[in-house]
Amino acid sequence: MSPSESVHLLGLVGSVREGSWNRALFDELVKVAPEGVEVVHHGLGALPLLDPGAAIDPFPPPVEALRAEVERADGLLLVTPEYNYGVPAVLKNAVDWLSRPAYRSPLRDKPVAILGGAPGPVGSARAQGQLKQNLLGTASAVFPWPELVVGAVHSRFDDGDLADDEVRSRLTAFVEGFVSWVHAVGPYRDGRRRQQTPSSR
Ligand SMILES: Cc1cc2nc3c(=O)[nH]c(=O)nc-3n(C[C@H](O)[C@H](O)[C@H](O)COP(=O)(O)O)c2cc1C
Repeated sequence: MSPSESVHLLGLVGSVREGSWNRALFDELVKVAPEGVEVVHHGLGALPLLDPGAAIDPFPPPVEALRAEVERADGLLLVTPEYNYGVPAVLKNAVDWLSRPAYRSPLRDKPVAILGGAPGPVGSARAQGQLKQNLLGTASAVFPWPELVVGAVHSRFDDGDLADDEVRSRLTAFVEGFVSWVHAVGPYRDGRRRQQTPSSR
């Protein structure tokens, strides 16, 4: 893709909670995205639990819909809270659905950025680290830097609105950096997609 082409980003939030802080962070990121960058959200609440023994041709309709959206996106934003020092099941389940068939999945070479927060002092840092490792298994192009970890996330909002200018400027730098990453990785990804790689697991 050339730098002048518009960019379409898809956001998946690892919380289906009404009033989710991570959804609120995502909504703030949408507001500060550069001009020409479209950012949309796809909810994960309708996904069934993965059963690798069940038929995946076709995938269940909510999974097909998600996979199609990920295929279409130039880049993926995974917004994660932290549950018991790790990735919430709702998000891991989505990643696992998206990861099949191995090495030929919609996640292969897909530019992916990870961000999010939690009430604890280290935010969702541990969950984000786990997700990065998971995305090595899907051969995704994980955005390395800047990271966006928001500690004490509940204290950053006032009546649902972001009340922290530092977080806003970090969100701005994050989405700008990710768009550059998408432009950098896009041609590499297009070349790799033309190669046939057999699934080996
Ligand atoms: C099962 C469970 C485990 C949790 N574990 C952690 C944790 O390890 N660290 C942390 O900071 N918060 C933890 N929390 C708090 C959540 O991160 C917090 O509720 C967060 O706001 C959830 O994200 P959301 O606002 O986007 O729904 C946990 C919550 C639940 C329900």
